[in-house]
Amino acid sequence: MSLAQSPVDRPTNDTTLAETLLWQRNRDGGTTPPPQWNDTLATIINHRSVRAFRPDALPAGTLELLVAAAQSASTSSNLQLWSVVAVEDPARRARLSELAGQQKFIRDAPLLLVWLCDHARLTAIAAERQMPVEGIHYLEEFIVGIVDAALAAQSAAIAAESLGLGCVYIGAMRNLPEQVAAELGLPPQVFAVFGMSVGFPDPTGETGVKPRLPRPVVLHREQYSIASQEPEIARYNATARGFMREQGMREQDWTQQSIDRVKDVAALRGRDRMREALRNLGFELR
Ligand SMILES: Cc1cc2nc3c(=O)[nH]c(=O)nc-3n(C[C@H](O)[C@H](O)[C@H](O)COP(=O)(O)O)c2cc1C
Repeated sequence: MSLAQSPVDRPTNDTTLAETLLWQRNRDGGTTPPPQWNDTLATIINHRSVRAFRPDALPAGTLELLVAAAQSASTSSNLQLWSVVAVEDPARRARLSELAGQQKFIRDAPLLLVWLCDHARLTAIAAERQMPVEGIHYLEEFIVGIVDAALAAQSAAIAAESLGLGCVYIGAMRNLPEQVAAELGLPPQVFAVFGMSVGFPDPTGETGVKPRLPRPVVLHREQYSIASQEPEIARYNATARGFMREQGMREQDWTQQSIDRVKDVAALRGRDRMREALRNLGFELR
């Protein structure tokens, strides 16, 4: 989505674009001019998930460009313990949509990227040299692969948004990990961390920038403090409600919504068996 198309929720005549975008992100009181500004910051700070896509295919070479951006992310020890499967086949996207909570945008967007924690490549190259890989079976290396995949994906997301494309992450790709692995032909020790639908935003489904927690809640100076967060979070609940109202969504308390996602095992929607699924996929997680 280009900045020109983006809905800005506040009059811009007395503020710069930078101040407007910064205000949208947190809706925190007054805006102060940022010390510096550029198009990269505008792209990042103007992010919103896109869930309504035009059917148009992406221009040739776009996928490769997104993967170049993904490969430009930092990667722990340069191990590059991630891979991505690009799914364009509508029938396969439809099947993966079924496995991932039947989310419609997986069928609608022309490209589905499935980001992988990949221990298979390192295991295979070690086997070629008949070397052990004992360390790879520890939880630490699983974390490395997950972090690598997330950093790569986010770099691709920013690249996509800079090109006027929209995207949305799909955590529901972890609802049925073994079935997703089978659909994508994943070998042992490869896990689909999340999906990401990518395409041209359908302007009729345009959404606003979802405000985040007030900055002091997440920005701690020198030492962490939880006590100071409560009043800011109460303020955020009001902000979030206002946003939902504007977007025509059912108004909900952010605090309650967040608690509801973790209040019991049922709230994990089947993902409480993740440890078992990962073992089935060849991750020992010692
Ligand atoms: C790892 C991850 C998984 C997500 N999974 C889903 C999903 O399955 N379905 C969905 O509609 N949105 C999903 N999202 C999008 C979040 O709901 C969204 O980023 C969040 O509500 C903030 O909104 P924004 O991205 O528009 O700012 C996911 C986001 C992340 C980072």
